[in-house]
Amino acid sequence: MQLSAEGIDALVSADSVAVLTGAGVSAESGVPTFRDPDGLWQQFKPEELASMNAFLANPELVQRWYAERRNLLDEVSPNAGHLALADLERLVTEKGGSFHLTTQNVDGLHQAAGSNNVGEVHGSLRRSYCVDCKRKATTKEMKSFRSGTPARCSACDGLIRPDVVWFGEMLPAEVLQAGENVARNADVYLSVGTSAEVYPAAGLPLLARDAGAFVMEINPRKTALTPYASASIRGTSATVLPELVKTLSRRLEMS
Ligand code: OAD
Repeated sequence: MQLSAEGIDALVSADSVAVLTGAGVSAESGVPTFRDPDGLWQQFKPEELASMNAFLANPELVQRWYAERRNLLDEVSPNAGHLALADLERLVTEKGGSFHLTTQNVDGLHQAAGSNNVGEVHGSLRRSYCVDCKRKATTKEMKSFRSGTPARCSACDGLIRPDVVWFGEMLPAEVLQAGENVARNADVYLSVGTSAEVYPAAGLPLLARDAGAFVMEINPRKTALTPYASASIRGTSATVLPELVKTLSRRLEMS
Protein backbone atom coordinates (compact mmCIF):
# COMPACT_ATOMS: atom_id res chain seq x y z
CA MET A 1 0.00 0.00 0.00
CA GLN A 2 1.34 3.41 -0.99
CA LEU A 3 0.13 6.41 1.02
CA SER A 4 -0.09 9.66 -0.94
CA ALA A 5 2.70 12.06 0.11
CA GLU A 6 0.75 14.92 -1.44
CA GLY A 7 -2.35 13.83 0.45
CA ILE A 8 -0.46 13.77 3.79
CA ASP A 9 0.90 17.27 3.08
CA ALA A 10 -2.63 18.45 2.33
CA LEU A 11 -3.91 16.92 5.58
CA VAL A 12 -1.11 18.53 7.62
CA SER A 13 -2.07 21.99 6.42
CA ALA A 14 -5.85 21.44 6.19
CA ASP A 15 -8.20 23.61 8.24
CA SER A 16 -11.21 21.62 7.15
CA VAL A 17 -11.38 17.86 6.59
CA ALA A 18 -14.50 16.07 5.40
CA VAL A 19 -15.16 12.39 4.79
CA LEU A 20 -17.71 10.28 2.92
CA THR A 21 -17.92 6.63 3.93
CA GLY A 22 -19.73 3.67 2.43
CA ALA A 23 -20.32 0.01 3.16
CA GLY A 24 -16.66 -0.93 2.58
CA VAL A 25 -15.68 0.75 5.87
CA SER A 26 -17.78 -1.80 7.77
CA ALA A 27 -16.77 -4.82 5.65
CA GLU A 28 -13.92 -5.69 8.01
CA SER A 29 -16.39 -5.65 10.91
CA GLY A 30 -18.39 -8.37 9.15
CA VAL A 31 -21.18 -6.19 7.73
CA PRO A 32 -21.78 -7.06 4.06
CA THR A 33 -21.43 -4.43 1.34
CA PHE A 34 -23.97 -4.04 -1.49
CA ARG A 35 -22.19 -4.27 -4.84
CA ASP A 36 -19.13 -6.45 -4.17
CA PRO A 37 -19.33 -10.03 -5.52
CA ASP A 38 -20.60 -11.22 -2.09
CA GLY A 39 -22.67 -8.06 -1.55
CA LEU A 40 -26.34 -7.83 -0.55
CA TRP A 41 -27.53 -6.67 -3.98
CA GLN A 42 -25.97 -9.79 -5.54
CA GLN A 43 -28.10 -12.04 -3.30
CA PHE A 44 -31.27 -9.97 -2.91
CA LYS A 45 -33.29 -7.82 -5.27
CA PRO A 46 -33.41 -4.20 -4.08
CA GLU A 47 -36.77 -3.71 -5.82
CA GLU A 48 -38.26 -6.43 -3.56
CA LEU A 49 -36.80 -5.07 -0.31
CA ALA A 50 -35.77 -1.46 -0.48
CA SER A 51 -38.63 0.64 -1.81
CA MET A 52 -42.01 1.81 -0.52
CA ASN A 53 -43.79 -0.28 -3.18
CA ALA A 54 -41.94 -3.40 -2.05
CA PHE A 55 -42.81 -2.63 1.56
CA LEU A 56 -46.50 -2.12 0.85
CA ALA A 57 -46.59 -5.31 -1.25
CA ASN A 58 -45.09 -7.42 1.53
CA PRO A 59 -44.41 -5.48 4.74
CA GLU A 60 -43.63 -8.52 6.85
CA LEU A 61 -40.97 -9.76 4.40
CA VAL A 62 -39.30 -6.34 4.36
CA GLN A 63 -39.52 -5.98 8.17
CA ARG A 64 -38.00 -9.45 8.58
CA TRP A 65 -35.09 -8.68 6.22
CA TYR A 66 -34.25 -5.45 8.05
CA ALA A 67 -34.61 -7.20 11.42
CA GLU A 68 -32.01 -9.76 10.31
CA ARG A 69 -29.64 -6.97 9.29
CA ARG A 70 -30.30 -5.24 12.64
CA ASN A 71 -29.63 -8.48 14.58
CA LEU A 72 -26.22 -8.72 12.91
CA LEU A 73 -25.35 -5.31 14.37
CA ASP A 74 -25.57 -6.78 17.88
CA GLU A 75 -22.66 -9.05 16.96
CA VAL A 76 -20.29 -6.59 15.28
CA SER A 77 -17.94 -3.88 16.52
CA PRO A 78 -16.11 -0.97 14.97
CA ASN A 79 -12.89 -1.99 13.19
CA ALA A 80 -9.51 -0.25 12.97
CA GLY A 81 -10.80 1.93 10.11
CA HIS A 82 -13.72 3.32 12.14
CA LEU A 83 -11.37 3.91 15.10
CA ALA A 84 -8.82 5.70 12.88
CA LEU A 85 -11.53 8.05 11.57
CA ALA A 86 -12.47 8.92 15.16
CA ASP A 87 -8.74 9.58 15.82
CA LEU A 88 -8.57 11.73 12.69
CA GLU A 89 -11.47 13.84 13.98
CA ARG A 90 -9.59 14.35 17.28
CA LEU A 91 -6.32 15.25 15.51
CA VAL A 92 -7.99 17.78 13.20
CA THR A 93 -10.15 19.42 15.87
CA GLU A 94 -7.29 19.54 18.41
CA LYS A 95 -5.27 21.64 15.99
CA GLY A 96 -8.26 23.98 15.62
CA GLY A 97 -9.65 22.60 12.37
CA SER A 98 -13.12 21.37 11.48
CA PHE A 99 -14.07 17.77 10.73
CA HIS A 100 -17.26 16.27 9.38
CA LEU A 101 -18.12 12.74 8.36
CA THR A 102 -21.04 11.89 6.09
CA THR A 103 -21.84 8.20 6.06
CA GLN A 104 -24.07 6.20 3.75
CA ASN A 105 -23.94 3.41 6.33
CA VAL A 106 -26.91 2.63 8.51
CA ASP A 107 -25.04 0.58 11.13
CA GLY A 108 -24.02 3.26 13.67
CA LEU A 109 -20.42 1.95 13.83
CA HIS A 110 -18.80 5.38 13.38
CA GLN A 111 -20.58 6.68 16.47
CA ALA A 112 -19.71 3.46 18.34
CA ALA A 113 -16.05 4.10 17.45
CA GLY A 114 -16.19 7.61 18.94
CA SER A 115 -16.78 9.82 15.90
CA ASN A 116 -18.79 12.87 16.97
CA ASN A 117 -19.67 14.89 13.91
CA VAL A 118 -21.48 12.27 11.81
CA GLY A 119 -24.30 12.78 9.31
CA GLU A 120 -26.24 9.60 8.45
CA VAL A 121 -27.37 10.43 4.96
CA HIS A 122 -29.18 7.11 4.39
CA GLY A 123 -30.75 6.89 7.86
CA SER A 124 -30.20 4.26 10.52
CA LEU A 125 -31.07 0.59 10.84
CA ARG A 126 -31.31 1.10 14.57
CA ARG A 127 -34.49 3.20 14.28
CA SER A 128 -37.97 2.50 12.88
CA TYR A 129 -41.13 4.59 12.72
CA CYS A 130 -44.83 4.38 11.93
CA VAL A 131 -45.62 5.24 8.30
CA ASP A 132 -48.93 6.86 9.39
CA CYS A 133 -48.37 8.82 12.62
CA LYS A 134 -44.53 8.98 12.16
CA ARG A 135 -44.00 8.08 15.82
CA LYS A 136 -40.62 6.43 16.57
CA ALA A 137 -41.21 2.73 17.16
CA THR A 138 -40.14 1.00 20.34
CA THR A 139 -37.81 -1.99 20.13
CA LYS A 140 -40.76 -4.20 21.07
CA GLU A 141 -42.88 -2.78 18.22
CA MET A 142 -40.00 -3.21 15.77
CA LYS A 143 -39.85 -6.92 16.60
CA SER A 144 -43.60 -7.51 16.69
CA PHE A 145 -44.04 -9.04 13.20
CA ARG A 146 -45.27 -12.63 13.08
CA SER A 147 -45.64 -14.98 10.15
CA GLY A 148 -48.19 -13.35 7.86
CA THR A 149 -48.70 -10.39 10.26
CA PRO A 150 -46.53 -7.30 9.91
CA ALA A 151 -45.39 -5.16 12.85
CA ARG A 152 -47.82 -2.29 13.49
CA CYS A 153 -47.83 0.89 15.56
CA SER A 154 -49.43 0.36 18.97
CA ALA A 155 -50.86 3.91 18.86
CA CYS A 156 -52.51 4.04 15.41
CA ASP A 157 -52.05 0.57 13.87
CA GLY A 158 -49.93 1.97 11.01
CA LEU A 159 -47.16 -0.17 9.53
CA ILE A 160 -43.71 0.11 11.12
CA ARG A 161 -40.87 0.76 8.68
CA PRO A 162 -37.11 1.07 9.16
CA ASP A 163 -35.75 4.62 9.24
CA VAL A 164 -33.56 4.09 6.18
CA VAL A 165 -33.73 5.79 2.81
CA TRP A 166 -35.25 3.56 0.14
CA PHE A 167 -34.89 3.79 -3.62
CA GLY A 168 -37.04 6.63 -4.95
CA GLU A 169 -37.00 8.51 -1.61
CA MET A 170 -35.45 11.84 -0.70
CA LEU A 171 -32.46 11.94 1.60
CA PRO A 172 -32.90 13.75 4.95
CA ALA A 173 -32.56 17.34 3.72
CA GLU A 174 -30.63 18.81 6.65
CA VAL A 175 -28.10 15.96 6.72
CA LEU A 176 -27.49 16.20 2.99
CA GLN A 177 -27.21 19.99 3.17
CA ALA A 178 -24.64 19.75 5.97
CA GLY A 179 -22.66 17.26 3.87
CA GLU A 180 -22.78 19.60 0.87
CA ASN A 181 -21.71 22.62 2.90
CA VAL A 182 -18.68 20.89 4.35
CA ALA A 183 -17.78 19.44 0.93
CA ARG A 184 -17.75 22.96 -0.55
CA ASN A 185 -15.47 24.20 2.23
CA ALA A 186 -13.17 21.19 2.69
CA ASP A 187 -9.41 21.44 2.11
CA VAL A 188 -9.17 17.65 2.08
CA TYR A 189 -12.02 15.29 1.24
CA LEU A 190 -11.70 11.54 1.90
CA SER A 191 -13.96 9.06 0.12
CA VAL A 192 -13.65 5.71 1.89
CA GLY A 193 -15.17 2.32 1.11
CA THR A 194 -17.83 3.48 -1.31
CA SER A 195 -18.44 2.50 -4.93
CA ALA A 196 -19.47 6.16 -5.47
CA GLU A 197 -22.39 5.03 -7.59
CA VAL A 198 -25.38 6.18 -5.58
CA TYR A 199 -26.32 9.85 -5.85
CA PRO A 200 -26.67 12.36 -4.31
CA ALA A 201 -24.09 11.06 -1.76
CA ALA A 202 -21.67 10.13 -4.55
CA GLY A 203 -21.72 13.77 -5.68
CA LEU A 204 -20.17 15.05 -2.43
CA PRO A 205 -16.50 14.31 -3.28
CA LEU A 206 -17.07 15.83 -6.73
CA LEU A 207 -18.51 18.96 -5.14
CA ALA A 208 -15.42 19.14 -2.93
CA ARG A 209 -13.08 18.65 -5.89
CA ASP A 210 -14.83 21.37 -7.90
CA ALA A 211 -14.38 23.71 -4.93
CA GLY A 212 -10.62 22.98 -4.87
CA ALA A 213 -10.26 20.25 -2.23
CA PHE A 214 -7.64 17.50 -2.36
CA VAL A 215 -9.84 14.43 -2.86
CA MET A 216 -8.34 11.19 -1.59
CA GLU A 217 -10.04 7.88 -2.26
CA ILE A 218 -9.37 4.82 -0.08
CA ASN A 219 -10.67 1.62 -1.61
CA PRO A 220 -9.14 -1.73 -2.62
CA ARG A 221 -10.76 -1.33 -6.05
CA LYS A 222 -11.25 1.29 -8.71
CA THR A 223 -14.55 3.19 -8.38
CA ALA A 224 -16.64 5.70 -10.30
CA LEU A 225 -14.75 8.42 -8.39
CA THR A 226 -11.25 7.21 -9.31
CA PRO A 227 -10.84 9.27 -12.50
CA TYR A 228 -11.70 12.45 -10.57
CA ALA A 229 -9.76 11.80 -7.34
CA SER A 230 -6.53 13.69 -6.58
CA ALA A 231 -5.12 10.41 -5.19
CA SER A 232 -6.39 6.85 -4.88
CA ILE A 233 -4.96 4.62 -2.18
CA ARG A 234 -5.55 0.97 -2.97
CA GLY A 235 -6.12 -0.95 0.24
CA THR A 236 -8.78 -1.71 2.81
CA SER A 237 -9.94 0.97 5.20
CA ALA A 238 -8.83 -0.98 8.30
CA THR A 239 -5.27 -1.13 6.96
CA VAL A 240 -4.92 2.23 5.17
CA LEU A 241 -6.68 4.57 7.64
CA PRO A 242 -4.60 3.66 10.74
CA GLU A 243 -1.39 4.14 8.68
CA LEU A 244 -2.63 7.44 7.32
CA VAL A 245 -3.60 8.74 10.75
CA LYS A 246 -0.33 7.53 12.32
CA THR A 247 1.68 9.29 9.63
CA LEU A 248 -0.37 12.48 10.02
CA SER A 249 0.03 12.38 13.80
CA ARG A 250 3.84 12.09 13.48
CA ARG A 251 3.96 14.95 11.00
CA LEU A 252 1.82 17.16 13.26
CA GLU A 253 4.06 16.40 16.25
CA MET A 254 7.11 17.50 14.22
CA SER A 255 5.53 20.75 13.01
P1 OAD B 1 -21.17 -0.59 -2.33
O1 OAD B 1 -21.45 -2.00 -2.00
O2 OAD B 1 -21.78 -0.03 -3.57
O3 OAD B 1 -19.60 -0.37 -2.45
C1 OAD B 1 -18.73 -0.85 -1.46
C2 OAD B 1 -17.35 -0.35 -1.78
O4 OAD B 1 -16.51 -0.72 -0.71
C3 OAD B 1 -16.74 -0.95 -3.06
O5 OAD B 1 -16.19 0.08 -3.85
C4 OAD B 1 -15.66 -1.89 -2.53
O6 OAD B 1 -14.53 -1.96 -3.41
C5 OAD B 1 -15.29 -1.21 -1.24
N1 OAD B 1 -14.73 -2.09 -0.22
C6 OAD B 1 -14.96 -3.42 0.00
N2 OAD B 1 -14.28 -3.84 1.07
C7 OAD B 1 -13.60 -2.77 1.55
C8 OAD B 1 -12.71 -2.56 2.65
N3 OAD B 1 -12.41 -3.54 3.49
N4 OAD B 1 -12.21 -1.32 2.82
C9 OAD B 1 -12.52 -0.31 1.99
N5 OAD B 1 -13.34 -0.45 0.93
C10 OAD B 1 -13.89 -1.65 0.73
O7 OAD B 1 -21.57 0.28 -1.04
P2 OAD B 1 -21.89 1.84 -0.95
O8 OAD B 1 -21.01 2.62 -1.83
O9 OAD B 1 -21.93 2.18 0.50
O10 OAD B 1 -28.11 2.62 -0.05
O11 OAD B 1 -23.36 1.86 -1.52
C11 OAD B 1 -24.09 3.06 -1.51
C12 OAD B 1 -25.53 2.80 -1.20
O12 OAD B 1 -26.05 1.78 -2.07
C13 OAD B 1 -25.77 2.22 0.19
O13 OAD B 1 -25.82 3.20 1.21
C14 OAD B 1 -27.12 1.57 0.02
C15 OAD B 1 -26.94 0.91 -1.32
O14 OAD B 1 -28.11 0.72 -2.06
C16 OAD B 1 -29.24 2.53 0.64
O15 OAD B 1 -29.53 1.55 1.30
C17 OAD B 1 -30.09 3.73 0.55
